[in-house]
Amino acid sequence: MVNTIQNPETQGLRPGIKNPVQETLLTPRFYTTDFDAMANINLSTCEEEFSAVLQELRADYNRHHFVRDEQFDQSWEQIDERTRLAFVDFLERSCTSEFSGFLLFKELSRQLKNRNPLLSEAFHLLARDEARHAGFINKAMSDFNLSLDLGYLTKNRTYTFFKPEWIIFAVYLSEKIGYWRYITVFRHLEKHPEHEYYPLFRYFENWCQDENRHGDFFKVLLRSQPNMWQSWKGRLWARFFLLTVFATHTLTVNEREDFYETLGLDAKEYNRHVVRKTNETSLRAFPEVLDTEHPDFFRRLEQCSENNVKNQKIDATEKPKWVKFLLKLPTNCSTLWHLLRIYLAKPIDAEALRAEVH
Ligand SMILES: [Fe+2]
Ligand SMILES: [Fe+2]
Repeated sequence: MVNTIQNPETQGLRPGIKNPVQETLLTPRFYTTDFDAMANINLSTCEEEFSAVLQELRADYNRHHFVRDEQFDQSWEQIDERTRLAFVDFLERSCTSEFSGFLLFKELSRQLKNRNPLLSEAFHLLARDEARHAGFINKAMSDFNLSLDLGYLTKNRTYTFFKPEWIIFAVYLSEKIGYWRYITVFRHLEKHPEHEYYPLFRYFENWCQDENRHGDFFKVLLRSQPNMWQSWKGRLWARFFLLTVFATHTLTVNEREDFYETLGLDAKEYNRHVVRKTNETSLRAFPEVLDTEHPDFFRRLEQCSENNVKNQKIDATEKPKWVKFLLKLPTNCSTLWHLLRIYLAKPIDAEALRAEVH
């Protein structure tokens, strides 16, 4: 939920961003899981890797990173309306998703405390990082006279239940895609500082290393569970989560083309780059990944995104629900068809590649 900070000078000056962003399929979600199963995860086959990632998390490299310096001490009135709206929307989504990670990791840490102390500690360190990220973004929002009511969000959001295996696949991907999203924006602005209208982006380089470490931790969890990469079921889930994350990313980036434009980035190119890189990174953890170089891969994903825009236009009309349903039927069938074709296309066998390397 977004609240304007009660400042009489600015109150009412900026209509259009006070309302909470409507919850849709694309809004960052809040998760809960089977804590007993999580506590019983057996890490014995990956002990060495686990203690290495735990060591990295304990080192706390970004302890002093999230401190607002003097660059923030200025007015942001010069940022034009369009940029401001796009940027604030980006801040709100990012803050929600960082906070959603914080809540999940904090709860895991609490529930596992007496049953699996080492795993509990790792989740505690992950929660520490996400709290910093969410807090830092929330402070940035306050520069625009907004704040996210995190307490309200905790109580009033619906929590989606995910089995531990799904949590591991989904969080691994969200950490790694987070890494690629932040680093791509950072590298781009390094080359084009003229597009950097707010100092938050300068923090992305070290920030994304946190996400990278979080992803590595989930990689250890995944590799410690042979059923997640040795079985056909594991293979099917791996492809399913890759497809879901990439489709959601494509739709979200396309919907927020404006934001990427304000940074001088081409939204389509940015999406393709992030998806390719995340897929490539997932080769190291997943049993299979998608073939992003297939000539139809991005064409199909982007078609789904266009279908989504068509549906939004239909939803915005005053027509009765059943008429909307019928009008959306062809686009929904088309989306389903394209997703199915991507899902069933020949994947890249990561286990075979691993066997070759060894
Ligand atoms: Fe984060
Ligand atoms: Fe993270």
